[in-house]
Amino acid sequence: MPILIKTPEEIEKMRLACRLGAEVLDYIAPCVKIGVSTRELDRLCLDYMQNVQGTVSACLNYAPPGHTPYPAAICTSVNHQICHGIPNDRPLKGGDIMNLDVTVITKDGFHGDTSRMFLLGAPSIQAKRLCAITFECMWLGIRAVRPGGRLGDIGAVIQKHAEKNGFSVVREFCGHGVGRSFHEEPQVLHYGKAGAGPELKPGMIFTIEPMINAGKAAIRQMPDGWSVTTRDRSLSAQWEHTVLVTETGVEVLTLSAGCPPAPDGMGA
Ligand code: MF3
Ligand code: CO
Ligand code: CO
Repeated sequence: MPILIKTPEEIEKMRLACRLGAEVLDYIAPCVKIGVSTRELDRLCLDYMQNVQGTVSACLNYAPPGHTPYPAAICTSVNHQICHGIPNDRPLKGGDIMNLDVTVITKDGFHGDTSRMFLLGAPSIQAKRLCAITFECMWLGIRAVRPGGRLGDIGAVIQKHAEKNGFSVVREFCGHGVGRSFHEEPQVLHYGKAGAGPELKPGMIFTIEPMINAGKAAIRQMPDGWSVTTRDRSLSAQWEHTVLVTETGVEVLTLSAGCPPAPDGMGA
């Protein structure tokens, strides 16, 4: 499969899907508190998607080759969980950091994919720094997107910033093209070489979703078939936006009222 170039009509439908994905995060943000379980957050998000938005969770029952159907509407990855954490009954506690990842499918059949970190109470200085640097990594990646640029430009700036700060980049999971399919080409690696890889062209839509570990990059696949943790049990953080390559640069599609602004000097 080649990298799809979306038509103006498809782009408009993706703008809607992505805004709705971001609005699920806006909706759930005030509910992310010490004592709430990730299962309760999952239930609330599913109810909001189904009964307020009229969207469908792309995650629920998602079953790519070699996987059992994913059993929840969102992913909640806490502390040393890297991604695809399955919501459960454990209450969140003070000091936890959690990625909450939402993908909706609209009535038009388009996917909007975005995630944010949530900090509960007062996490350690290292945990806060990891979340902040990962956020900067995502935005540096976004700022590297321009027509005529290369896919490798994105991974290169992300890897450089993560490693300069003593952190490591997860290799096994990457960003991805997104549209009528949840995961399409290209694979957007969060490491690599500037100037390498396919040329970025207006109309391409993909996610940038760096997973950054405080310790080593190695992962551990958990026996539930989905959740992935750091092998060394160090903390991991992730932020995700879906972006469009425009004629002049980049448009972030998963912005919303409640989404934290780009770091100073990196623009919206
Ligand atoms: N939303 C994730 C991503 O960013 C994928 C989650 S797949 C699931 O690509 F099945 F675990 F939900
Ligand atoms: Co994604
Ligand atoms: Co996602």
